[in-house]
Amino acid sequence: MLAIIFVLTLVIHVSGNDTCPKCGSIEVPYPLSTNENCGDPRYRVYCKNNVLQLQSAEGFYYKIISIIPSSYKLVISPPSIPKNTCFSSDLSLGGFRLDDDSPFNISTRNTVMLFNCSENILLSPLNCSSNSFCRLFEEQVEGSGCRETLCCHFLKDSSMTARRIRVRVGGCTAYTSVVDLKPGDSVDSWKYGIELQWLPAN
Ligand SMILES: *[C@@H]1O[C@H](CO)[C@@H](O)[C@H](O)[C@H]1NC(C)=O
Ligand SMILES: *[C@@H]1O[C@H](CO)[C@@H](O)[C@H](O)[C@H]1NC(C)=O
Ligand SMILES: *[C@@H]1O[C@H](CO)[C@@H](O)[C@H](O)[C@H]1NC(C)=O
Ligand SMILES: *[C@@H]1O[C@H](CO)[C@@H](O)[C@H](O)[C@H]1NC(C)=O
Repeated sequence: MLAIIFVLTLVIHVSGNDTCPKCGSIEVPYPLSTNENCGDPRYRVYCKNNVLQLQSAEGFYYKIISIIPSSYKLVISPPSIPKNTCFSSDLSLGGFRLDDDSPFNISTRNTVMLFNCSENILLSPLNCSSNSFCRLFEEQVEGSGCRETLCCHFLKDSSMTARRIRVRVGGCTAYTSVVDLKPGDSVDSWKYGIELQWLPAN
């Protein structure tokens, strides 16, 4: 009897394809993998103190706030901008970046807002006008240290690199992202997040 249980356990572990346990209250669907005994190791995520996180190429951890396995998508929380400052907490790492061989990339439903930009940004095709969505953030979000800085927004569409959102000192020093932003949505209803999609495992 014990031998059978032993063999069964071995088979399950060797197959390496059991779904990972929940992390805190969030389900971790296949192929996401929180440890080497479950999921597919290429889809590595981290469960630290019951908080599910994704690690960027630069080693910064972003909290995973939702997962839609049926459409291969997950949403991570944009890095914080400490109150009354205009610096993203991942500024020293240049913002968010995924490895070139990562199975994840940034989806085309993210409206990215950049704050405290240098004047050079005006040469870019980004929308830095006085009615850019970033103005609503500057003016309406409590304790925003980015108020009255030069800011811009853009839809992260398929014509851009799908693996990074860049910030740097002397460029733009803070950013946020809203998923599926529609003109006319009130700032209170914005869904802050960076939506990523993954290549289905086969
Ligand atoms: C692994 O398991 C998941 C769900 O349990 C399934 O959808 C997937 O097809 C399996 N993959 C392989 C390679 O067996
Ligand atoms: C900038 O974005 C706002 C809000 O979506 C839009 O009303 C405006 O036409 C855009 N301006 C330019 C120059 O694209
Ligand atoms: C904006 O960025 C510059 C560096 O590019 C920095 O010196 C300045 O303090 C930043 N402004 C705010 C409000 O954080
Ligand atoms: C991102 O990944 C998805 C699925 O893995 C793929 O269909 C899409 O073409 C990728 N997008 C870009 C811009 O590379």
